[in-house]
Amino acid sequence: MCALALLSAAGLAVVLLRQTQLSVRLEKLDAQLWDVSERALVGLPSEVAATHTDQQGAKPEERHHSRSKRSRGPQGPPQDDEQQDMMMMMMTYSMVPVRVLVDLCNSTKGVCLTGPPGPPGLPGLNGMPGFNGTDGVPGQKGEAGVEGRRGRRGPAGEKGDPGEKGDPGEQGSPGEKGETSNDVILEECIIKSLINPRNITKMTTTFGAWMQDAALQDDERIWVAEHFSGQVVKEYQSIASLQNDSSNTIDIKKFFQGCGHTVHNGSIYYHIAGTFKIGKFDLRTRKLYTLAIENTLYHNLSYLLHNSKTYFKLAVDENGLWLIFASGTDESIMVARLNERTFSVASFINTTYPRTKAGNAFIACGLLYVTDAKDAKVTYAFDLLKGKAVNVSVDLRSSNGVLAMLSYSPRDRHLYIWDSNYVKTYDVHFLSDD
Ligand SMILES: *[C@@H]1O[C@H](CO)[C@@H](O)[C@H](O)[C@H]1NC(C)=O
Ligand SMILES: *[C@@H]1O[C@H](CO)[C@@H](O)[C@H](O)[C@H]1NC(C)=O
Ligand SMILES: *[C@@H]1O[C@H](CO)[C@@H](O)[C@H](O)[C@H]1NC(C)=O
Ligand SMILES: *[C@@H]1O[C@H](CO)[C@@H](O)[C@H](O)[C@H]1NC(C)=O
Ligand SMILES: *[C@@H]1O[C@H](CO)[C@@H](O)[C@H](O)[C@H]1NC(C)=O
Ligand SMILES: *[C@@H]1O[C@H](CO)[C@@H](O)[C@H](O)[C@H]1NC(C)=O
Ligand SMILES: *[C@@H]1O[C@H](CO)[C@@H](O)[C@H](O)[C@H]1NC(C)=O
Ligand SMILES: *[C@@H]1O[C@H](CO)[C@@H](O)[C@H](O)[C@H]1NC(C)=O
Repeated sequence: MCALALLSAAGLAVVLLRQTQLSVRLEKLDAQLWDVSERALVGLPSEVAATHTDQQGAKPEERHHSRSKRSRGPQGPPQDDEQQDMMMMMMTYSMVPVRVLVDLCNSTKGVCLTGPPGPPGLPGLNGMPGFNGTDGVPGQKGEAGVEGRRGRRGPAGEKGDPGEKGDPGEQGSPGEKGETSNDVILEECIIKSLINPRNITKMTTTFGAWMQDAALQDDERIWVAEHFSGQVVKEYQSIASLQNDSSNTIDIKKFFQGCGHTVHNGSIYYHIAGTFKIGKFDLRTRKLYTLAIENTLYHNLSYLLHNSKTYFKLAVDENGLWLIFASGTDESIMVARLNERTFSVASFINTTYPRTKAGNAFIACGLLYVTDAKDAKVTYAFDLLKGKAVNVSVDLRSSNGVLAMLSYSPRDRHLYIWDSNYVKTYDVHFLSDD
């Protein structure tokens, strides 16, 4: 009896000792587990991982850059290794109770299996919450909302006599067309030719975008976003600094995707990778604003512009800021007119042109221009203010290297181009220039 009591007392002592050791180990595991899950949560959108598979066709140096980006820093996507670590951690964690039993029995030389029942145990600690499961299959898309109507404008009132100011004329009846007052309505805004190509400099990356602020006439700065994904933009003080490559880098807070960014009135606008959101990063205040565009193609390699891995293309013309994207319903090219001040959509325009035929696209003077799949010619135009297609055929280039970017600048009426590693400009020659 005495021996039995002694034995169970000894057993209890061992149990207590083990429990202390185990709770220390549990705490360590807890800390590691949270560390790992936190790191996994800070990952970048799945997009970069997705585009990686598509990069096999890209230039070797592009792949190299992208790979080194993937393995860089805490902002990188969760690595395979990291995921394995996490699996190991989870397995170790669930094995703890088993090890408690095994260790116990081993250290009491099997007495635990045959000894008298011990005193009732304390209630166990609650387990760690489980990990969230992977995302379910997305639900069916909702119906597209009814498109808002554009405001109508009556003809302007008559002017008074010159010299003395007359009373403003009476408001006329609503006009036929739905333009808002600041629209640039030039007859023959149609591009006749692209002339006078000039090489600015050679870049080290195949993909990228270079931009000037069309709203700030005296601002000579140039911004460059290299690759089709990244989180920094280079700022050059002038074309000369771009040519001798002396720049500052700016962290724009989120990863961009594609080569369709633009800079306007002191903000850089870009597609936030892996989302259906556009970011507006104010270069002065360093604040980021976002705008969601529902029911669009924004991931899974269903690009608006396949050649430049671009889902959303921002454009600036004489009328202001536009967004070109592909409808999630029928994959046709849509254009949204944006209100910069409120950073919202003013109206949507359905061009009905299929995204699969488009190499690149830009907007000049209220017309959307689209190149063919090889970016050799401008083959399609759509008048965004009148809402109708226009016949065009304009030669662009003879090379068949990657055309990463093609943007119009209303500031100097040039096309800004990133073609086969070269950044270049072309003069835009409109029919009305003759
Ligand atoms: C049990 O103890 C023996 C010796 O004390 C040791 O060799 C063995 O690895 C232990 N078994 C377990 C599962 O801990
Ligand atoms: C798991 O999902 C729930 C519900 O969406 C959420 O409240 C919780 O924060 C998530 N936990 C983690 C670790 O992501
Ligand atoms: C621009 O660079 C390309 C590639 O080197 C070259 O073929 C072309 O002649 C250059 N064009 C001009 C206008 O310098
Ligand atoms: C690059 O050009 C800028 C502007 O002309 C000049 O200020 C700078 O000194 C140049 N840097 C180098 C390394 O040549
Ligand atoms: C991604 O695209 C592939 C083919 O392009 C399609 O089979 C797959 O269902 C898509 N996945 C999602 C999540 O949309
Ligand atoms: C341009 O930026 C200035 C300064 O931030 C702002 O006051 C002005 O409203 C902006 N213009 C447009 C058209 O957004
Ligand atoms: C665009 O217009 C075409 C032709 O009218 C129509 O079939 C299609 O559903 C429209 N798409 C969207 C997204 O409104
Ligand atoms: C465009 O050109 C085609 C063939 O030349 C012609 O059939 C069609 O009517 C033209 N469309 C417009 C809008 O001018």
